[in-house]
Amino acid sequence: MSGRIVVLISGTGSNMSALVAACEEGSVPGEVVLVAADRACTGLEAAERVGIETLLLEPKGFASRDEWGDALRDEIVSRRPDLVVSAGFMRILPPRFIDAFDDRLINLHPSLLPAFPGAHGVRDALEAGVKETGSTIHFVDYEVDHGPIIAQEAVAIVPGDTVESLHEKIKEVEHRLLPAVCKMLLLGRVHMEGGRVTIDDGR
Ligand code: GRF
Repeated sequence: MSGRIVVLISGTGSNMSALVAACEEGSVPGEVVLVAADRACTGLEAAERVGIETLLLEPKGFASRDEWGDALRDEIVSRRPDLVVSAGFMRILPPRFIDAFDDRLINLHPSLLPAFPGAHGVRDALEAGVKETGSTIHFVDYEVDHGPIIAQEAVAIVPGDTVESLHEKIKEVEHRLLPAVCKMLLLGRVHMEGGRVTIDDGR
């Protein structure tokens, strides 16, 4: 089987590119059918370069956040996705958008949630002086950077780390973790019960 994946981005899209590569080499049983962004960004150009359909939908072209969210939702629904991945999408998704995708909508966040949600998860962890942070992939609910956690991996914070160096280390982890989670989701091995997630890894 080949699952249909839509990726939402706002920036460089390195996670999107890692996921595309994993699909192409066959380690994820799926295909990225659309990359959508809320702003012009280098990730959209990267997707175009490898021949993936792109969509730029800026909220400023709409009367309200809900109207923008509805338009984005309708565009994505028309691609019949099995999985919608928010990977560096810097915009809050309206409830009406979230409702359309239910347990097919996941988010990637650069901290060990519930610690350090929000737009500055890397910086906030560094400033708090914690000794490790990391990456979280979770199902999306109505709260920002919140919802049943599917996978997490820790990254050590060492003396001399900057926001940039730390984020690079986190992204290295994410480029592995995101394809692995997408694979498990597309294979139907991720189960949610009472807000808790278990993964049947076949072992
Ligand atoms: C990732 O670190 C992700 O966790 C966060 O934004 C970053 C996106 O990076 N939400 P990229 O655009 O995939 O390079």
